[in-house]
Amino acid sequence: MAKIKVLTIFGTRPEAIKMAPLVKELEKNKECFESIVCVSAQHRQILDQVLELFKIKPDYDLNIMKENQNLWTLTSDVLLKTKDVIEKERPDVVLVHGDTTTSMGAALSAFYAKVPVGHVEAGLRTFDKYYPFPEEINRVFTDAVCTYHFAPTEKSCQNLKESKISEEHIYKTGNTVIDALLYTVKNHETEIEGLKLNPELKTILLTSHRRENFGEPIKNICKAILELLKNNKDIEFVYPVHPNPNVRKPVYELLDGHERIHLIEPLEYAQFCTLMKKSYIIMTDSGGVQEEAPSLGKPVLVLRDTTERPEAVEYGTVKLVGTDREKIAANVQLLLSNENEYKKMSESINPYGDGNASKRIVEVLKGIK
Ligand code: UD1
Ligand code: UDP
Repeated sequence: MAKIKVLTIFGTRPEAIKMAPLVKELEKNKECFESIVCVSAQHRQILDQVLELFKIKPDYDLNIMKENQNLWTLTSDVLLKTKDVIEKERPDVVLVHGDTTTSMGAALSAFYAKVPVGHVEAGLRTFDKYYPFPEEINRVFTDAVCTYHFAPTEKSCQNLKESKISEEHIYKTGNTVIDALLYTVKNHETEIEGLKLNPELKTILLTSHRRENFGEPIKNICKAILELLKNNKDIEFVYPVHPNPNVRKPVYELLDGHERIHLIEPLEYAQFCTLMKKSYIIMTDSGGVQEEAPSLGKPVLVLRDTTERPEAVEYGTVKLVGTDREKIAANVQLLLSNENEYKKMSESINPYGDGNASKRIVEVLKGIK
């Protein structure tokens, strides 16, 4: 029987982390699939870190990242450059992930070529088109052009049904991020290069990169950190700073040089997992970190007003605290001062998957031809 030709397209760090287990699973099923990988390289350095860790050698590297890129050129570069690959390969299915411009552009490109698309991490919604921007519309759009919808949770399946997506091809699979996390924690126990944490202090991990937090919100986050450090001598912060210049500039201006703030380069994924495990509290606006941290039993304070990942908020291990300086500081303070509050939020739960999402997706793909 002819093999099913699968073209997987991704371009940013989180897509790579979440698609890596699926690429590996397709490779394991060589008798059924011809697997081709194309990276847009919407991200360069932090994408390459993931490719190296998971030993993925892309068949196509479109190398599109530009310094401080904008959405217009990014979208058109993805659309035009993936066109050539899709037309050359004519796969049976294109796989994209989540809500980035690479995902949306590649899905549109495949749709124009009349190649069916599978959307991994389908169905997430805030139902507010500007939060997160542009990701909410990227997801809605991607779901609209896709044929196969691999939804991580019951809630995401429901969102798809309510969006009038045909139920025939909605599959509840779990999130592949848990496959990546469990695999990495099991196989790549590793120290964090060049980071000296003080064992007598509680470590608070911070990440932030969202477009809607550029400007005042990110400055508020930094000011909240300075206030917390002043009021608590037993804490230190670690902040792997995203390479986006809109993040780096204010963060270095406001936080650089403080003895209990470690501003570091983005960590390779296995080292980042080690850091999550060592942390006492995690503050983030990241989607992926919101999904990973609850399964490590870490309280997560989300630096946003809305989330498309309500499951862990409902369980109580994730709390939305927004970007108001006082509100952020008060919520961290509560966790530092009140043991019961800390315990309530640090239960290990796993609403996003069991580590077998990629296997489920591959089983569905075996039946498409
Ligand atoms: C992108 C995604 C966002 C995702 C995030 C994950 C879009 C519109 N945004 O946002 O959904 O949550 O990735 O991190 O798709 N840069 C580097 N090196 C890198 C990566 C980025 O220098 O390895 C710098 C470049 O100057 C680049 C800028 O960061 O132009 C912004 O990258 P971009 O992908 O446009 O936006 P992100 O904020 O990373
Ligand atoms: N991550 C990483 N190194 C870092 C920071 C984050 O490997 O220094 C991982 C993190 O564990 C998660 C993913 O990157 O799996 C999240 O990426 P990001 O926050 O950039 O994007 P989002 O998930 O918000 O789209």
